[in-house]
Amino acid sequence: MKESFLVREIQRSDLRQVAALETRLFTDPWSEGTLSSCIDDLFLIAEREGKVSGYLVARDSGTEAEILTFGVDPALRRRGVGSALLTAVADRLERVGVRKLYLECRVSNVPAISFYLKHGFLEVGKWVNYYRSPRENGVVMCRKIGPV
Ligand SMILES: CC(C)(COP(=O)(O)OP(=O)(O)OC[C@H]1O[C@@H](n2cnc3c(N)ncnc32)[C@H](O)[C@@H]1OP(=O)(O)O)[C@@H](O)C(=O)NCCC(=O)NCCS
Repeated sequence: MKESFLVREIQRSDLRQVAALETRLFTDPWSEGTLSSCIDDLFLIAEREGKVSGYLVARDSGTEAEILTFGVDPALRRRGVGSALLTAVADRLERVGVRKLYLECRVSNVPAISFYLKHGFLEVGKWVNYYRSPRENGVVMCRKIGPV
């Protein structure tokens, strides 16, 4: 079932909730301090009834950008929250002239890889032992932004 969520820029007062969600989602989570250092990046959250349902942080450098961290509350998955966040981020990146969006993902993260393939990302490389806790290879994926 698709539901409506408000996708908006993060505010400092959201950081605690985002950090709590990040800790639930990842074995090597970013701290609230590290997330806070991204407040001037493209940092969007999805909100429903005052609660953070998902978040996505991307950083651009000219015509290329990278997804730094991204997650959705496990209880709210497969309802379009991740897609809404990614679409909003891609729209904003297109407006500032970004043409390629990159990310890295654990090779075992089949749900995320499926999500990215659905959204037009292709595998473009592999990082050996890129991740810790546990040590694992990373897959690099890339998608065009804007007109082909
Ligand atoms: C990846 C993630 C953000 C997707 O969020 P989401 O809100 O569930 O995504 P959506 O509901 O928009 O899913 C869109 C499509 O992605 C694909 N998809 C999403 N989750 C999937 C899964 N578990 N298995 C297979 N395909 C999946 C499907 O094609 C889905 O469309 P459908 O539900 O109509 O079949 C979420 O699974 C997540 O937070 N994972 C843990 C954190 C993480 O791995 N982050 C990415 C690190 S690189």
